[in-house]
Amino acid sequence: DKVGSLSGQTWVITAGPTREPLDPVRFISNHSSGKMGFAIAQAAKRLGATVYLVCGPVKLPTPIGVERIDVETAIEMQEHSLRLAKTAEVFVACAAVADYRVAEIASQKIKKSSEQLQLVLQKNPDIVASVAALNNAPFTVGFAAETENVEEYALGKLHKKNLQMICANNVSAPGHGFNSDTNALTLFWPGGSVSLPLTSKLNLARQLVEQISKKFKKSPQE
Ligand code: PMT
Repeated sequence: DKVGSLSGQTWVITAGPTREPLDPVRFISNHSSGKMGFAIAQAAKRLGATVYLVCGPVKLPTPIGVERIDVETAIEMQEHSLRLAKTAEVFVACAAVADYRVAEIASQKIKKSSEQLQLVLQKNPDIVASVAALNNAPFTVGFAAETENVEEYALGKLHKKNLQMICANNVSAPGHGFNSDTNALTLFWPGGSVSLPLTSKLNLARQLVEQISKKFKKSPQE
């Protein structure tokens, strides 16, 4: 695609992990580095989109021209995602959102006493599903990080979350997924799919943005 082909479009992209506090010094999180989501933001910006990047705690420089919103928890990520998605054409959920948070965050550091400690976890809201359920929802793209039954689980998420596209990421293969500089994806949409083989995350992001923009152009917009 040509530089400028996405001008006039607003893209909102989530990236990185979320961090769910247990007490003032501890949290639950995962190994997402933010690299994949930042690459998508960079690729969309390069083609002229207005890009908002809602990201959890990551150690990456902001791509030039991208509007970055730093958050910690899934609840915070959802707040900003919903606010920004209301006026966006495209939403891409690349973040590895914690599925659960601690039901009650301890106000003081949890002390080490008994041999076992039980944490009660509460399900987090599903950010990408809530964006897809908006009135006038943007073209909504999810990711599916899977270690088995990749296609089946990815298609399940496409339908259950009511998305326009899902990017299946087999994170069990070496060089794929969390924290690597390379990745491979299989994109599924209702009625089709395409495999994007192992390459740098930036290269992959460029191909993904091109696929999204092709599908978005074809889908009826008001
Ligand atoms: O950040 P990197 O180190 O570069 O790694 C990239 C990646 C592996 C994190 C990325 O390619 C990826 O697969 N991201 C999705 C990770 C994930 O949590 O997938 P999931 O299958 O658990 O979630 C499915 C979809 O729902 C995702 O689009 C996720 O953003 C979204 N979700 C999940 C839970 C939740 N509460 N809200 C959500 O929006």
